[in-house]
Amino acid sequence: MNFLISFCFCLYISLLPSFGTPAVLGSSKKGGWYNSLKTSILELADSGITHVWLPPPHANGTEGCSPEGYTISMHRELKFLFTARHEKGIKAIDVVINHRAAVKQDENGLWSIFEGGKPDGRLDFNASLICRDDNDHPFGTGNPDTGDNFPFTADMDHRNPRLQSELSDWMIWLKTEIGFDGWRFDYAIGYGSSLTKLYMDRTLPEFAVAEYWRIGGVVTTFDMTTKYIMDVAVEGELWRLKDSNGKPPGLIGIKPEGAVTFIDNHETWSQNCCLSHLIKVRLGYAYILTHPGTPSIFYDHFFEWGWPKDPIRNLTAIRARNGINSKSSVTVLAAEVMKIWPRLDLGDLDPTNSNFHVARSGDDFAVWERNELEKAC
Ligand SMILES: *[C@@H]1O[C@H](CO)[C@@H](O)[C@H](O)[C@H]1NC(C)=O
Ligand SMILES: *[C@@H]1O[C@H](CO)[C@@H](O)[C@H](O)[C@H]1NC(C)=O
Ligand SMILES: *[C@@H]1O[C@H](CO)[C@@H](O)[C@H](O)[C@H]1NC(C)=O
Repeated sequence: MNFLISFCFCLYISLLPSFGTPAVLGSSKKGGWYNSLKTSILELADSGITHVWLPPPHANGTEGCSPEGYTISMHRELKFLFTARHEKGIKAIDVVINHRAAVKQDENGLWSIFEGGKPDGRLDFNASLICRDDNDHPFGTGNPDTGDNFPFTADMDHRNPRLQSELSDWMIWLKTEIGFDGWRFDYAIGYGSSLTKLYMDRTLPEFAVAEYWRIGGVVTTFDMTTKYIMDVAVEGELWRLKDSNGKPPGLIGIKPEGAVTFIDNHETWSQNCCLSHLIKVRLGYAYILTHPGTPSIFYDHFFEWGWPKDPIRNLTAIRARNGINSKSSVTVLAAEVMKIWPRLDLGDLDPTNSNFHVARSGDDFAVWERNELEKAC
């Protein structure tokens, strides 16, 4: 039985908010993110991680979240990384298409010149492809925006057929030439969902997640509700983890196959919520790794916090062994404070009474598994 393909983990690797400049992000890892990640591929694969979310590639071999170019130029480090990654079966995602930073000013001094970096003019855009209602770029003459305004950089006119076709071609190039397997649509709220569908249909990614804080349709979305519920649950409001139908609140209780669960990522990081404490972060992972949806692990938690990675590895192994996947069903029997250590005080709910044993426990958490399962594996 192949467990690994039935679920997927993304690994966030970006530390900065999405408006961080490529230069800042690039310099925050000596030798660049791509090179640095290459050395970790084996460790990621061994930890049950199946997908990495890379900072998107940009002009002149930079990497980051403020896209200057959808530049068509070979990215050597990225290519090396992808070779190493594919050998280990790890897949990668990311794309920022909503907005774009101009590379130079036009003759009137307006920042409206975008360059694709090829003599044939592909992806060379000007003010005619900036939405006419972009607050920060009042000189845009394209169609009105189909989504929310993005601050700082230009909102591109995704209704324009030329933009649609050249962007799709660029994404297909990222897939076929560079080796991306799918997309994390950055700021997907910035354009209509029919456009996300258009890019999905044209580029056929293996996996896609949209940064979109509402329930989406075509692609999976980050489960913000589950994130916020976990934030307050670990502060004592455990009852919030069960809704009136005995389901987990949040997207995982309604449409788990469309949910990507997370503790923190480069967007929420700065909020420093309750879940920023080490023990509580582990609790969060014990929760999302044993629940439906597609769980994702934050780069900082995994690599920077200096904690033992065993709990995560054990939890991904438990998830795989028990065939828990994005669509698994879940019934919440109780969501309340109970004593699990040093003596179980769970009454009728104690799983050890009925053929279960503790598969992994840690500060404040325990995961039980049915006895016969371990023999079968
Ligand atoms: C990219 O490189 C070209 C040629 O070396 C240079 O003119 C341009 O300013 C660079 N762009 C960025 C964004 O660094
Ligand atoms: C913008 O580019 C289009 C071609 O895509 C061209 O027809 C138009 O003249 C350009 N506008 C300006 C202001 O340069
Ligand atoms: C947890 O994982 C480690 C390897 O990372 C392994 O040695 C250990 O036996 C596991 N513990 C449990 C309880 O599964």
